[in-house]
Amino acid sequence: MLKERGERLMTLEALDLATLSLRDGEKWASAPEGVLPAWVADMDFPVSPVIRRALVDRIDTDLGYPAWYDESHGGPLGEAFAERMLGRFGFTADPAHVRLFTDINQAMQIALHLGTSPGDPVALHAPVCPPFTETLTRLGRPPRPVPIRPRNGGWHLDLDLLADEIRGRGGTPCRALFLVNPHNPTGRVFRREELEELARLAAEHDLLVISDEVHAELAYEGHRHIPFAAISEEAAARTVTITSGSKAFNLAGARCAVAHIGVRRIREAVDAHRGLLFGQVSALGVDALRAAWTGGDAWLDAVRALLARNRRAVAEGLPEGVGYLPPEATYLAWLDCGALGLGDDPSAFFLERAKVMLFRGPDFGPEGRGFARLNFATSPAVLDELLTRMRTALPR
Ligand SMILES: Cc1ncc(COP(=O)(O)O)c(C=O)c1O
Repeated sequence: MLKERGERLMTLEALDLATLSLRDGEKWASAPEGVLPAWVADMDFPVSPVIRRALVDRIDTDLGYPAWYDESHGGPLGEAFAERMLGRFGFTADPAHVRLFTDINQAMQIALHLGTSPGDPVALHAPVCPPFTETLTRLGRPPRPVPIRPRNGGWHLDLDLLADEIRGRGGTPCRALFLVNPHNPTGRVFRREELEELARLAAEHDLLVISDEVHAELAYEGHRHIPFAAISEEAAARTVTITSGSKAFNLAGARCAVAHIGVRRIREAVDAHRGLLFGQVSALGVDALRAAWTGGDAWLDAVRALLARNRRAVAEGLPEGVGYLPPEATYLAWLDCGALGLGDDPSAFFLERAKVMLFRGPDFGPEGRGFARLNFATSPAVLDELLTRMRTALPR
């Protein structure tokens, strides 16, 4: 059964509904019969053949304990990460600063655990991707969200408001800044001037900066991702940059994320705990990500072209009255359904009436009330069906 499933999912053309519904990952398996899932940030596209080959090679060669457990010189992905950053974004990363974690959230948790103290507030932009608020709260680092708001046909970062929040508004000042750039769910790509101002604020308030850049490779034409740590050496030395293959290469199940830890004391603390506390990533995840970065560009180009097409199709096919600013990066459409009168959680309406499963807006915090997030990383045919269902569910 699994083999049959695997063979049918091999090609981009095979993304018909019957085939997709065979999937047993969270996105498709969680959708009740007849419902189209467009919520969790996984793409429906089959993995790059280059990655598939690397995984089979790993299994055929040696799936015993890897030889790279000592990561103090950057580990098995240090060089591949540095080359990728330089080639794609002009960022000169230090391979020796790279450490591996199972996912973005774990890397963020460890950076906060080792780099801040309980009670230290953390500034971040809202709406906030749900696991982050929970992570900060559970770690006892109070989140200090600063809204990104629509202005002049785009999403606006209010840096004065952020500066006020960092200063603590008369209470405890922030000790860390958590950036999600490109931003999920708005798809906003931060501009160089904004990053420079953020770097200035970080220096002024001596903040630890954690920069989640997992959507970076999915910026659309006309938008350029700039890693925060590329702004200056000073910025790099206070920053933990986190990325993985889970978005651009659809590798969320491979469980391997990369952190470039510019902060020496955090790097040393990670090394001191290694193996005892944090576990290790899988050899399969490492090989998958290396293959993606070193040989996956043709696949990525094809996916990016399809996403650009789908992004336009969303603009043309959404129900009338839904507010949509096409994202500057990634495959998530943040839909303002406020004018439709569907209440705080419009996804409930679309699930019941359209049989389309969107991500609940209110899960992203108060800024998400009246919003829903649509994932358009699927085949044109499935997207067309999804948009048609959404349109026809609403009264004319
Ligand atoms: C901005 C952002 N960070 C992190 C993640 C989770 O990534 P991972 O599965 O590698 O932890 C997501 C997933 O949607 C995301 O959008």
